[in-house]
Amino acid sequence: MNAKSGHLPLPALPEIDVEEFRKVVRSRRSVRRFTDEPIPDAVLADCLELATLAPNSSNLQPWEFYVVRTPELRARLAEACLGQNAATTAPVLIAIVARPDTWRKHARLALEDWPKDEKLPSIVEKYYKKIAPIHYNQGPCGLLGVAKKTAGLALGLARPVPRGPYSVNEMKVWATKSTALAAENLILALRAHGFDSCPMEGFDECRVRRLLKLPRKGLVTMVLAAGRRAENGVYNRQYRFDRKNLIRYL
Ligand SMILES: Cc1cc2nc3c(=O)[nH]c(=O)nc-3n(C[C@H](O)[C@H](O)[C@H](O)COP(=O)(O)O)c2cc1C
Repeated sequence: MNAKSGHLPLPALPEIDVEEFRKVVRSRRSVRRFTDEPIPDAVLADCLELATLAPNSSNLQPWEFYVVRTPELRARLAEACLGQNAATTAPVLIAIVARPDTWRKHARLALEDWPKDEKLPSIVEKYYKKIAPIHYNQGPCGLLGVAKKTAGLALGLARPVPRGPYSVNEMKVWATKSTALAAENLILALRAHGFDSCPMEGFDECRVRRLLKLPRKGLVTMVLAAGRRAENGVYNRQYRFDRKNLIRYL
């Protein structure tokens, strides 16, 4: 610990070859047909662990991954994914679920999991004990959210203030943002291991929920089909719009 700054010494940064990263990103495609080859357990576990290292709001990790490999359940889930080729051919389907409702439990966990041999910084303790319970709590029928929004509107006339999340719906967006980042980590990790995937939002959410017995407030952000790319797995050339329509330097 550096006595002056209070910061822990961090491990030296590794050398990184940007070309290796570029290969991962550039070779990733949404793959719609997979071979029968299973993804080894260790590879899948590594990819899921890398997924959970995604940046996420307040480190509250508002996500869950439901990994489906058994043929019978997979076939039923593929059907709920509207029988898409990616779903029917993939050896693994992963429902990536956002949890707008786990913040309270996770705020507690963040404090409990703090390494016993390190002093808990008071700012961290204050954040999870005092600030998060106000910031993320919308109260009964969302009334606290309405009160926070009103206070924010008044205070915001004079100075910058947080503008949400102020409702149950905004909490859904809040959880989905972080969960989508974890999904991208998972997709890129699979590619780095030589496997491929297809994120799908084309599914019957009611059926997926019922089938996987998902928690009531969980939101299926995507179902990810994953496996080894088949020769005819990519349907067309990758294209993107002209960057000048999409990127603004200010
Ligand atoms: C949130 C999301 C939902 C998607 N849903 C589907 C889907 O249901 N079925 C499908 O075949 N592809 C789906 N895709 C894949 C997109 O069609 C694909 O990413 C896009 O066409 C660009 O192609 P590329 O991924 O090969 O670069 C989805 C992608 C995202 C990010």
